[in-house]
Amino acid sequence: MKKILTLAALLACLPIVAQENAIIDLQPQKETWRIEKEIYGHFSEHLGTCIYGGVWVGPDSPIPNTMGYRNDVLEALKQLQIPVLRWPGGCFADEYHWRDGIGPRQLRPKMINTHWGGTVEDNSFGTHEFLNLCELLGCEPYISANLGSGTVEEMADWVEYMTSPADSPLANLRRENGRDEPWKVKYFGVGNESWGCGGNMRPEFYADQYRRYATYCRNFGDNRLFKIAVGPSDFDVNWTEVMMERVGRRMNGLSVHFYTVYNWNAKGSATKFTPDDYYRTLGKCLDIDKVIQSHRTIMDRTDPDQRISIMVDEWGTWWDEEPGTVRGHLYQQNTMRDAFVAALSLMVFHKHGERVKMANIAQLANVLQAMVLTKDDKMVLTPTYHVFEMFKVHQDADFMPLEVNSPDLVTPDKKVIQSVYATASVNQKGTMHISLANVSLDRSCEVTVNLNGAQYKESSGRILTSGEISDHNDFDHPHTVKPEPYTGMKSGKDFLTLTMPAKSIVTVELVPAGK
Ligand code: AHR
Repeated sequence: MKKILTLAALLACLPIVAQENAIIDLQPQKETWRIEKEIYGHFSEHLGTCIYGGVWVGPDSPIPNTMGYRNDVLEALKQLQIPVLRWPGGCFADEYHWRDGIGPRQLRPKMINTHWGGTVEDNSFGTHEFLNLCELLGCEPYISANLGSGTVEEMADWVEYMTSPADSPLANLRRENGRDEPWKVKYFGVGNESWGCGGNMRPEFYADQYRRYATYCRNFGDNRLFKIAVGPSDFDVNWTEVMMERVGRRMNGLSVHFYTVYNWNAKGSATKFTPDDYYRTLGKCLDIDKVIQSHRTIMDRTDPDQRISIMVDEWGTWWDEEPGTVRGHLYQQNTMRDAFVAALSLMVFHKHGERVKMANIAQLANVLQAMVLTKDDKMVLTPTYHVFEMFKVHQDADFMPLEVNSPDLVTPDKKVIQSVYATASVNQKGTMHISLANVSLDRSCEVTVNLNGAQYKESSGRILTSGEISDHNDFDHPHTVKPEPYTGMKSGKDFLTLTMPAKSIVTVELVPAGK
């Protein structure tokens, strides 16, 4: 008896290792679609230090640079295989006059960036600097043009200036400014948030404005514009209804904006938050699934052939600005919590990949949910960067449908979320990648992946995790959060098992079984 009691007392003292189980069923027999690489797109606005200091320091800067672009940031961004970059805004786009940003830099006029902190904009980063950056990064440019305060003529001229191969006054002006060959510009946004900072328009009015402005955005030479109309924010389905009815196939894409913000009046600190705040954030982030579905439902009815795509051209977390930083510059830190928002959002975009053809996280550097943070000559990669880098293997791969069965979690605001999320794809070489997120803060999970006839075996994997969910990288500790090799995967006959620690994100690679 004494022995039994002692054993019971001993067991009571041992920490309980909380582990759960989840099952993922791959469904290789189901219909699939391409995960367009543009889903891994980015957004760079003239806002705070996103462009100036973040990407552009100018050719005379002591910070190591290539033609004015900082080398450390260029290198980091190249690793992400950025497919598309949106510019110059955002709200800034509807006050931007492109002619201010061409010609000799010392002669360019200055302006006040009224949206973002009243900062003086010297226009030293303009059309040439942006399009050359896209060429250096090997990505498509996505120009967001001024409909709010600009004229039809100004917009039409910009398209001609950038893309015309002709012997025309505007193409010749481009040549005088140092660029002989026209650039290829595919993605062209006609306004930004025209329901808000882009002009406070009603959808009916904007629809007519879009029709008028877009008419004069011509295809020059062999350049073909993919025209993107301003779409709804969040659940504004009326905006979508009106646009589908009044603009329809005159647009190639309809933008959707969705930010993970729980309370716009008290967004909260990026780094100091409770477990409840964390779970509430994930619940909010996952609303993007319902937002997309609400607009898809309208589009599936009015455009059953899926000729018009959804472009989620602004998304991400939005926290309080870091104490001590310039008000209106939207500088925020980025923790493992942001990494989870990135991972879950990308998984949702994959799932809606038949209709969602582009997504652009806000923003590239030093603003909102950034990839990199810079200070003088220092740069750190954020946890969100690492998710984009680990998930880049899904770019242009075929979506592998799957079903996840995992224990539920209930957020403080009573939303039911899963403890494990997953997405999978098969690339052109036949290699499969599965990305998983165990969002639980305190429970590891044994995940069984049933291959259901898909013939694959384990190859390699990487994991992103950290001791605390609020862990982040800063200039004194740049490598607190970084991916490590993952060793928790085992292959069985027609299944795999993956042991996922609490709060971890994993990407594994599987190769065809015969290889
Ligand atoms: O990304 C910051 C701002 O958020 C953009 O300028 C605007 O389009 C949105 O409201």
